[in-house]
Amino acid sequence: MFNFNPEKIRKDFACLSKDQKKAPIYFDNACMTLKPNAVTEAIISYYNDHPSCHNRAAHEFGEVTTKKVHQAREQIDKYINCRPGESIVFTKNTTESINMIANMIDFKKGDVVLTTDLEHNSNMLPWQFLNIKKSVTFVQMPIAPDTEEFDLQEFQNILSKGKVKLVSIFHTSNITGIQLPIKEITKLAHENGAMVLLDAAQAIPHHQVDVQELDIDFMAFSLHKAYGPTGMGVMYAKEQYLNSWVPFFVGGEGITDTTYDSCTLSQAPEKFEVGLQNYAGIIGSGAAIKWLSKINLKKAHAHLIKLNEQLSEGLSSFDGLKLIGPSQAKNRSGIVNFSTGNRNPAEVCLMLSKMEKIMTRSGVHCGHSWFHKYDLMPTLRVSLAFYNTEAEVEIFLRKMRDLIK
Ligand SMILES: Cc1ncc(COP(=O)(O)O)c(C=O)c1O
Repeated sequence: MFNFNPEKIRKDFACLSKDQKKAPIYFDNACMTLKPNAVTEAIISYYNDHPSCHNRAAHEFGEVTTKKVHQAREQIDKYINCRPGESIVFTKNTTESINMIANMIDFKKGDVVLTTDLEHNSNMLPWQFLNIKKSVTFVQMPIAPDTEEFDLQEFQNILSKGKVKLVSIFHTSNITGIQLPIKEITKLAHENGAMVLLDAAQAIPHHQVDVQELDIDFMAFSLHKAYGPTGMGVMYAKEQYLNSWVPFFVGGEGITDTTYDSCTLSQAPEKFEVGLQNYAGIIGSGAAIKWLSKINLKKAHAHLIKLNEQLSEGLSSFDGLKLIGPSQAKNRSGIVNFSTGNRNPAEVCLMLSKMEKIMTRSGVHCGHSWFHKYDLMPTLRVSLAFYNTEAEVEIFLRKMRDLIK
């Protein structure tokens, strides 16, 4: 029985629960979601009640911060189902997590990193730079704009050529919304001796991503796309890597002792979190995941798909608009990305915002190389979250009709 109620969710968000006429229609969730009150309250409480660093301050504020940072980490470990002995590392964002992993794996000249050609720049540039710095070969498997399904046979063919050390791949595309069969991809990669790094930036906000079930070796995601504070991310790695890796960043907090020519590193995860951290952000991240854990994600995702169907159907009646990605809305998660015919998408985006407080995103969505390769013009992207409603979609479609006329 479908009974997800977005109105109940909206009450948790300050800017959505005010007078309906003043509330924005926020459709830029793939960039960043809004933050529930539980998150902003946790952040304010840190600054008002115990602004201090964790682990090293033996005073009351420090003790509270240490406890809350520990709880936040545990909350996220549990959410992604870390094995005993594994623990996530807090970072700034998905981009930083991928860069750290790229620089901590022991790559040698001639090793192959395999991605798709549809990755976000953040899962493309680290490999491009590794190619320049260490002569690592960087291969991209094609996913064309109209691709309906990931081609596992083609993937197997590339793997069987050998030398693939790492498959670094997205879970859900921020451009077409296509979702990849990660369990099958990981199984094939492992059978062929390759490790797997999952870019879960667009998956974590919508699904439970279980690291044990998927058996991925590494994962990167951002909390700001999952109802959490801005500038917060996570790096996950299996225990063997956490224990053996030499950190990419080094400094205070990451060691237990130093001499002028040596040091004793802290245990993971602390050895990777050097210098004073964004404690307010960490505690707010725990609050975001706690909030997300209370939502029935299956029902919430079914709600997103219903909105995506409503949007896709509505837009299909407009002359000159063309959706990119899988033809069926149910295969595009919360993403509806389309060319705006002879209207400039940047102009449409601006007008939607100025006239109706409808916030969308125009451009190439950090996929410059993919847009170049397939000769595509910039698009307008609507990306949905659990608090969006059918009424908002109706208003958007009506406004689009006026603008496109
Ligand atoms: C699939 C994907 N990967 C990586 C990123 C980069 O995330 P961040 O800017 O939070 O590091 C994004 C951001 O939109 C994304 O959609």
